[in-house]
Amino acid sequence: MIVALNNKSNLTKTEFEKYIEDLNKIKTEHTMILAPNFLNVANFKSEKIYLAAQNVSSYEKGAHTGEVSADQLKSFNVKYCIVGHSERRKSQKESNEEIKSKIINLFANDITPILCVGETKEERETGKAQEIIEEELKIALDELSQEQRDKVIIAYEPIWSIGTGLIPTNAQIEEINKFIKERYNNKVLYGGSANEKNIDELKKCPSIDGYLLGGLSLKPTNLQEFVNKL
Ligand code: PGA
Repeated sequence: MIVALNNKSNLTKTEFEKYIEDLNKIKTEHTMILAPNFLNVANFKSEKIYLAAQNVSSYEKGAHTGEVSADQLKSFNVKYCIVGHSERRKSQKESNEEIKSKIINLFANDITPILCVGETKEERETGKAQEIIEEELKIALDELSQEQRDKVIIAYEPIWSIGTGLIPTNAQIEEINKFIKERYNNKVLYGGSANEKNIDELKKCPSIDGYLLGGLSLKPTNLQEFVNKL
């Protein structure tokens, strides 16, 4: 299983130094990927955890103030990068087209994208969840080569579940993951309020290939409990 950790805009430099020490003590056979804040990418040290970024520029290097380009990420040994997180789609108004450009830049630098897709509460209630997810995937992936497309890790993250403590039923997760896997040959992670308590239930979903964890990523002790139960 893949266990990907998204620190979001948390952990100062000193907090991260202590955090990465604790994280390195976690014992697990599963593949751990950590996406720290950009500034903490530089202070990442691990023999066993893969380094990810939380975002990348949709532009190549050059005159783009405040952006971080894919080749800069590569120079810091970043192996994975989250793209299309719903927080960015909402606050930074990221479009599916922009996300596609990010994915292309990542592949040009041998970085594996972790593409987040998912529906809002309203989209679920009006029966539009699959339609939204289909569009997010289509625009981001369909023009890639088959080889590249297959490498993308998809993270199904229902927006109403992120940071809220609300978890979809296993049947709801299975339905969406099946929909994705009928169209794409990819690994699919689940993300949204997953923790050491609800993992016993979540792990009954055969379609889940791993997890993308936000809140839990900040609590190494609880994280150890989570991976023990996987
Ligand atoms: P959460 O966040 O685990 O805190 O719900 C998941 C995410 O945003 O990737």
